[in-house]
Amino acid sequence: MGRRALRKPDPSLDLSRHLKTLDELPRPWRPEVLFGRCGPLEVEVGSGKGLFLRSAAAARPQLDLLGIEIGRKYARFAAAALAKRGLDNAVVVHGDAVRLFAEILPPTSITAVHVYFPDPWWKKRHKKRRVLRESFLCDVQRVLVPGGQFHFWTDVEEYCETTLELLAALTQLEGPFEVAQQEAEHDMDYRTYFERRTRQHGEPVYRSEFRKRLEGISKRSS
Ligand SMILES: C[S@@+](CC[C@H](N)C(=O)[O-])C[C@H]1O[C@@H](n2cnc3c(N)ncnc32)[C@H](O)[C@@H]1O
Repeated sequence: MGRRALRKPDPSLDLSRHLKTLDELPRPWRPEVLFGRCGPLEVEVGSGKGLFLRSAAAARPQLDLLGIEIGRKYARFAAAALAKRGLDNAVVVHGDAVRLFAEILPPTSITAVHVYFPDPWWKKRHKKRRVLRESFLCDVQRVLVPGGQFHFWTDVEEYCETTLELLAALTQLEGPFEVAQQEAEHDMDYRTYFERRTRQHGEPVYRSEFRKRLEGISKRSS
């Protein structure tokens, strides 16, 4: 599925609170620098236009959300939507999620990781570009708190199967747990824009959810 040109955000919006680059993030990691508090923090990888970030930030004000998006225009668009609505519990980082996880997020710091419709990189020689690669999945397990969740939805059956196999082989996350499809109650009642598009085209969505074990955490999962 192709992507339409993006509307430019209103230039009068101040994005300084809602848009950061990877290099602007505090090292060592101190989320309170971004959010002004230190509470439960969830990360969305590949936020695109940011529908999930703004819906979740509005629905759960007690939660902090960090979106990471490699496309600059998409990162700006998603940040502008947060700024416009005054949703100060969500921030978009422009950068590579693989680096965010490998270099910045410490162990047991994140309550949920969300990955919705990651780019499939269809060609065999391009598959190594997938965000859900071996090192990244090990980092997901490392950064989650005990009981933390990993949500992965895709419209690509092969990406789903490959990732589930990697998770079983490389991590001790429990799952996959079943995720039921919800009826949309209005035109934007979808987890993300890609879910909306996929369902409106009548195509299947493969949803999975995993959980980090509360007990018996081994060296691999620290
Ligand atoms: C197919 S789109 C899905 C967007 C959104 N999650 C949705 O479901 O509507 C995948 C998004 O992931 C972003 N992306 C791809 N690789 C990434 C990476 N390594 N780090 C951060 N974002 C990435 C792309 O720029 C794109 O916006």
